[in-house]
Amino acid sequence: MGSITFIEHNGNQHKVDIEEGSSLMQAAMDNSVPGVDADCGGECACGTCHVIVDKNWVSVIGNTTEIETQMLDMTPEKADTSRLSCQITVTEAMDGMVVRLPEFQM
Ligand code: FES
Repeated sequence: MGSITFIEHNGNQHKVDIEEGSSLMQAAMDNSVPGVDADCGGECACGTCHVIVDKNWVSVIGNTTEIETQMLDMTPEKADTSRLSCQITVTEAMDGMVVRLPEFQM
């Protein structure tokens, strides 16, 4: 369907194939992208799937829910375009998207 590139804090890039309807977190896990822990398995309860979405792609990822915002507020490296990757459902419009990973998850 397409691909999304994860960029680690150290600059290493991981271009992964994406599947519509899957979560961005699942795409990272399926491809063993380092730096996405996803301790709660996608329940929006751990904050360890934090990604920072490239500004050019913010418009395609939708809005955060209140609970996601609360979890993000607890992440030490929160940025303006931070999201929890388990809360992003992949669509075709995300082909080519770039997300960065924080240095540390919670
Ligand atoms: S996997 Fe736990 S909040 Fe996303």
